[in-house]
Amino acid sequence: MTVDVRALDPADFDQWYGAVDRAFGGVPEDPELEQFWRTVIDPARCLAVYEGPTVVGTTQTFALPVSVPGGGFVPTGALSAVSVAATHRRRGILTSMIRRQLDVLREEGVPLAVLTASEPGIYGRYGFGLATQQMSLEIDSSRVRVEVPEGGDDVTLRYAPSFAEAAEACEAVYARSIGTRAGMFLRTPGWERHALIDPPGFRDGGSPAQCVLASRGDGEVVGYVRFHTKPVWDAAGPKGVVTLRDICADDPAVYGALWRFLCDIDLTSTVKAGNRPVDDPLLHLVSDVRRCGVRVRDGLYVRLVDVGSGLSSRSYSSPVDVVFDVSDSFCGWNAGRWRLSGDGKGAVCSRTADRADVALSARDLGAVFLGGVSLSALASAGRVRELREGALTEATTAFATPLAPWLPHGF
Ligand SMILES: CC(C)(COP(=O)(O)OP(=O)(O)OC[C@H]1O[C@@H](n2cnc3c(N)ncnc32)[C@H](O)[C@@H]1OP(=O)(O)O)[C@@H](O)C(=O)NCCC(=O)NCCS
Repeated sequence: MTVDVRALDPADFDQWYGAVDRAFGGVPEDPELEQFWRTVIDPARCLAVYEGPTVVGTTQTFALPVSVPGGGFVPTGALSAVSVAATHRRRGILTSMIRRQLDVLREEGVPLAVLTASEPGIYGRYGFGLATQQMSLEIDSSRVRVEVPEGGDDVTLRYAPSFAEAAEACEAVYARSIGTRAGMFLRTPGWERHALIDPPGFRDGGSPAQCVLASRGDGEVVGYVRFHTKPVWDAAGPKGVVTLRDICADDPAVYGALWRFLCDIDLTSTVKAGNRPVDDPLLHLVSDVRRCGVRVRDGLYVRLVDVGSGLSSRSYSSPVDVVFDVSDSFCGWNAGRWRLSGDGKGAVCSRTADRADVALSARDLGAVFLGGVSLSALASAGRVRELREGALTEATTAFATPLAPWLPHGF
């Protein structure tokens, strides 16, 4: 029987949702989490692969603006729910879904696609470059002190009356933070609930999520931390674990005060944190970074659906005037030469017949787009070629950003 990639028939949404669930392990989700996904997934943005009436492949995109270097936001297709039934794997179904998905985004005029990968080896072939990294920490808080910047002692911390009641104040702090790094989503209505879902399966045996709010003087909330605590005891006494969910602050003093609080909770000696930016200021606040159990892994993968509008949508750290020769076997419309002229105010990227200065693949252009990967580093790996002396340094400097790009949550 032949298979057919097409828009999901909304009547098949339950079947589609069940197919995703099964491909990711088949363990029933927490009802609250399922309810959340069912609210934010738009059936009109779902693709399905049908074999007769049966859904054997799934994918969808969230239409979420993503912050780009320079402070703006770009319409983005955030791909998720990518799955192929185990009975139908390795027949090219994923390739045909991504083909269709990128064609649809191009028709919609969306310049960027992003995703997080279950396995890093899957998406490079479709032109997705690894653009951000995320850091995890396992801090020995019995030995590590947090040195709080000046002003931190004026910060007042208090437990929020309830996790849900604090949500609005936390979301306001989060909203103020979005422009500070590239790679963050402007949460559209409904997404604020993502941070509040607290199923037992998320707690690693710990407490329900707790929230501590930070304020100063007039009482306005200027930061928050949400976390779980897990009591652990052995013959030597207490060895409890604190697991961070998220932390956000308006300024360094508040940030330091919140981290000091986390590392100082009685009866605990470990603080675990998952997805943090690789240049987290915490690394410069701790007394002993070696006891912070730092690990780094891949984060967001970026695909320039359209090189011209994509590169025109951000600004650049220094003046740049470079012709790229782009190879793109999966989205042939991007292949060829593009002149990028821009600076800190904005940029134009358009087709040119001029000689190329730098040659690279669309995948590597995706990797450098948010400023988290250096063109020169990719050149050192033989992935990017400089064709005009000086062009590589010029472009590398222009694409760089003051802070590492980062997406604080999954999707
Ligand atoms: C990953 C998955 C979507 C692949 O689907 P599929 O239809 O078997 O993939 P295709 O047959 O289209 O494979 C296309 C290419 O990707 C490769 N590929 C597929 N899965 C891969 C993996 N997990 N790691 C590395 N390469 C992979 C194939 O070998 C093939 O390579 P080729 O073009 O060089 O021949 C499917 O196995 C699946 O649903 N897995 C469980 C859920 C999951 O991990 N989804 C991805 C979420 S980000």
